[in-house]
Parts: sequence; C-alpha cells; structure tokens
Amino acid sequence: MKKSIQLWGAFLMAGTLLFTSCKKDDMAVAPTPTLYARLGGNSAISAVIDQFIANVAGDARINAFFADAAADPARLTKLRNNLINQVGMATGGMEKYTGLDMKAAHKGMGIEDSHFTALVEDLSLSLDKFKVPTAEKTELLTALAAMKPDIVEGATTLYARLGGNAAITAVIDDFIGKVAADSRINAFFAAAAADPARLNRLKLNLVNQVGQASGGPEKYSGLDMKTAHKGMKITDAQFNALVEDLQASLVKFKVESRTKIQLLTALGGMRADIVGQ
Ligand code: HEM
Repeated sequence: MKKSIQLWGAFLMAGTLLFTSCKKDDMAVAPTPTLYARLGGNSAISAVIDQFIANVAGDARINAFFADAAADPARLTKLRNNLINQVGMATGGMEKYTGLDMKAAHKGMGIEDSHFTALVEDLSLSLDKFKVPTAEKTELLTALAAMKPDIVEGATTLYARLGGNAAITAVIDDFIGKVAADSRINAFFAAAAADPARLNRLKLNLVNQVGQASGGPEKYSGLDMKTAHKGMKITDAQFNALVEDLQASLVKFKVESRTKIQLLTALGGMRADIVGQ
C-alpha cells in the first residue's frame, strides 16, 4: 500500500514540479488543481470505478480472478470502496485507502502482463465513457502503470498457485473428510473408509492425479477414470455433490478464484468418463 501510494504521490509531485517550473515567472496563474479535482472528485471517481467493475465483470480475459468477489456482495463492496479510496487518496483527495499494499493484495495470483493490460483497458474504456479528457486519463493510467511491478508475477502453473504437494495434500485430506460426511455420496466410499490402506491409496492417487494434471512432478499411476468408475452408475447429481465437496475444501483453504475455477473446470472435463458408467 505504502509503495503504491508513494508511486502515485511521486507521480503527482513530478507533475506539480513540472508545472511550477514552467510557471515561476507568471505569478498570476492559479496553481493546477489536483488530479482529484480535475477528475471530478469522489462522485465522478465512484462512477468511473463502478463502470470499470462492470467492464471487468464482462471481460472473459480476467473476470475469473474476480469470481469470488462477484459472488459476494459484501466483498465486492469492499473492493469497490478500496478502489475508490485508493484512486481518491493517490490523486489528492481526502479519502483514506486502508486496504493491502499492491504486492500483498495480488500475491500468488499469477497475474501476467496480458491480464494487467486487459484491466487497464477496462479502466480506460470507463474513463472514455465518462469523457475524462486525455491529459487526466493519461495521468491516471501512467500512475497505474507504475504499480505494475508489484502486481504482475508472470505465468505460474496451476500447481504452483495451488501451493504444491503439501497444499494439495491438505486440500485432499479435507475433501475426503467432507465426502465421508456427505450422505449424498458417502456410500460409494464405505469400503475405502473401512480399510485404512485402501483409503491411503485413494488419497495418494487423488493427490498424484491433481499434482500431475496441474503441472506438478507427481505421477498418477491409478486406473483411468472410465475403468475406475465402471459399474458404479454414478449420476450427474452425485458427481455435482462431489464437486461441491471439493469446492468447499478449496474455499476453506482460501484458494483464489481463478485457480479454483481452473481446477474445477479440469474436474468437470472428466464428468463424461465418470457419470453413467
Ligand atoms: C494498477 C492496477 C491495479 C490496481 C490499482 C489494483 C488495486 C486493487 C486493490 C485496491 C485491491 C484490494 C486490496 C484489499 O483487499 O485490501 C485489489 C484486489 C484484487 N485485485 Fe487488483 N489492482 C490492479 C490490478 C489487478 C489485476 C491486473 C488483476 C487481475 C487481472 C487484479 C486482481 C485482483 C483481485 C482478484 C483482487 C482481490 C479481490 C477480492 O476477491 O476481494 N488486480 N486490487
């Protein structure tokens, strides 16, 4: 946070110095209003941020990052207020930004250059919609660009974002506990639950399967999905129940939304080989 505000501040100060040096012989000229005032203050910034959020929500290049916030009104409101306060404070307004610094806020998300560019485009479209003049638009977008090194981490594997073998093992442990307690599907696992060696093998197979599929060094050596579920006559509803249990474990371990969606989508791809066998 401090660093990003410092960056905004440095940028604004540079603008002010430039202005001062240009105008030092002309004392009659009024000082340039703050970028905050030129943008139109809190209400104009709020309108720009609202449109920006709508643009991001409709942007398939990056909206998976925001799926959890979009599904939780309180979280979305907090994000909105954080963004308004961040822009307000950094442009010279009275707002106080109290959120995380940019490095901490985006750590582990695997944000790439292309994601950053997409988000800036979404903001730029919003500024255009409100007819923010080119000078103010450039000033704001230049300040945002300065935060890029704190936000962009570059491409990461799904495996790394999940937290590697230890984190996957913890998620699978929790998931198995949830399945064992889920009366919609636990009958399928009764034999494994009654035999510790069999349960351990199932657990290891699941960890290795997720590890291998997400780009880790693990090697899955179990049966293919069709063979493993042959004769079980698993229904779509039972498959959905299992996915829900895994989703609950991923939420418990605070796996961020894009990573969660990618893992659940990969699992969803196995549905045809598992349901109705
Ligand atoms: C200069 C550009 C950016 C700025 C100024 C910015 C600002 C912020 C702020 C203020 C927060 C809230 C921090 C808190 O909760 O305390 C946040 C969170 C977040 N940002 Fe960014 N961000 C930028 C770029 C990006 C990009 C490129 C992405 C991904 C495409 C991204 C994804 C997220 C996500 C997923 C959250 C957490 C939302 C939630 O679930 O609550 N951000 N960002």
